[in-house]
Amino acid sequence: MYIARVLCLLSWLCGCAETPPDDVLDYASCLLMNPLPIEATGNDDPHLGLKSIYACNCTEEELIEAPVHHYPDGALIIKVSSRETQDFPWLLATMRKREGSWEWAEYTRNFADEAFARIPGGSQICTDCHSQVSGVDWVFTVYQPGDPGGNE
Ligand code: HEC
Repeated sequence: MYIARVLCLLSWLCGCAETPPDDVLDYASCLLMNPLPIEATGNDDPHLGLKSIYACNCTEEELIEAPVHHYPDGALIIKVSSRETQDFPWLLATMRKREGSWEWAEYTRNFADEAFARIPGGSQICTDCHSQVSGVDWVFTVYQPGDPGGNE
């Protein structure tokens, strides 16, 4: 915990917070999983705002079968959230499948022209909640084919 705090302070001091990889920023080129934006579910919603979920590095067929056959290695799921009073995304939450298990990350920003910065911390907070859907490969959203043009 102490080390995590020091690392966090160091990254804050040198302004070198981890930014998202290019494939995360390029989410709009991936398959949109929900044709209609997902509304916030309440005050305890961990990903506040209007949400769109994109799946990258998997085919549409793999996406349809994912709840049963699971996502392939390399799959990347990105949740993009925009606050209802703002017209730019403030949060990117990601799950990336590597060697059979998911890696979790979350990035936020406050202004449209600001770079996203990774929120430091472990993935346990994510897995504690997503474990509710461990039977369908830890993913809440079920793919709904829709307008390929996207929500935004
Ligand atoms: C308290 C429960 C909860 C916590 C904690 C949580 N999530 Fe989620 N997450 C959800 C729900 C519910 C959805 C479905 C879409 C929605 O309603 O926002 C979701 C959706 C997602 C998605 C899109 C794929 C899917 O499962 O539908 C990603 C990616 C994601 N979360 C990443 C994360 C990451 C990374 C963390 C930790 C930093 C995290 N989540 C923490 C509840 C949670």
